[in-house]
Amino acid sequence: MSFSSEWLDLREKADIAARDASVLAEVRRFLEQASAPVVVDLGSGTGSTLRAIGSSHARWRLVDHDPVLLAEAARRSGPDIETVELDLTRTADIPFESATLVTASALFDLASASWIDALADRLVTSQTGLYAALSYDGILEWVPSDPGDDAIRDAFNAHQRGEKSFGPALGPDGAGYLANAMRKRGYNVTTARSPWRLGPADAELQRALVTGIAKAAGETGVESADAWRARRLAAASQLHCTVGHLDVLALPAPRPDALHMPSPRRT
Ligand SMILES: C[S@@+](CC[C@H](N)C(=O)[O-])C[C@H]1O[C@@H](n2cnc3c(N)ncnc32)[C@H](O)[C@@H]1O
Repeated sequence: MSFSSEWLDLREKADIAARDASVLAEVRRFLEQASAPVVVDLGSGTGSTLRAIGSSHARWRLVDHDPVLLAEAARRSGPDIETVELDLTRTADIPFESATLVTASALFDLASASWIDALADRLVTSQTGLYAALSYDGILEWVPSDPGDDAIRDAFNAHQRGEKSFGPALGPDGAGYLANAMRKRGYNVTTARSPWRLGPADAELQRALVTGIAKAAGETGVESADAWRARRLAAASQLHCTVGHLDVLALPAPRPDALHMPSPRRT
């Protein structure tokens, strides 16, 4: 699947506003506590997660299969970041060397269950943390509503479960599956909702969103998708729209020997 940097730029402001603030603060604390943190960002695009976390003493390694997006990330972020062109389905080749934290945004809704399990196994082996933000969770609501909204949402969600870059995608269930996979492997997992709440000021993003949703719904065979798109585009400058996402933070549980406190000496 390919994503244009124009689309990623269009959504970045909404993404930054939507990320759960307390999860983001915990991510920053986690990085501050590490002496020489290395962050590996999966499906980095042009580096939105790097910009969202902001200044830190971490070294960043951005991994994506799209060389155009990686070149743009390098241009925007300067010479200190490393970029790696890789198809992430080759899980064994993902360069996790020295990684303190693995990050991703808007990626795990594209992922399949088997890919998430393989990734989780690798993270556990190296006891690396994971911050996966902004996975679409199936919630799509417009105010005022349109009689076609529910059918279009259901068709779009079915399309999200189709074949993407990672095999059959989990779509709206991706983030929940990831959270469970990390819990099962002994990690401490926090989840938080991070919806886009778009208003008339976001009309350009809403138009692009409606166009993409109608196209996907049409591909599933919903004949009313074109008419729905036309009504929604005409109303875009008056609409409020909620797009649900989930943020997941999974940190390795402290090892029992690290928790051990020497018992007070008896006198
Ligand atoms: C929705 S975009 C999110 C980009 C970025 N994280 C952001 O939030 O702006 C998904 C990203 O995953 C990358 N991607 C999708 N499938 C991939 C794969 N199989 N291997 C590597 N990168 C992939 C795309 O090129 C794209 O940059």
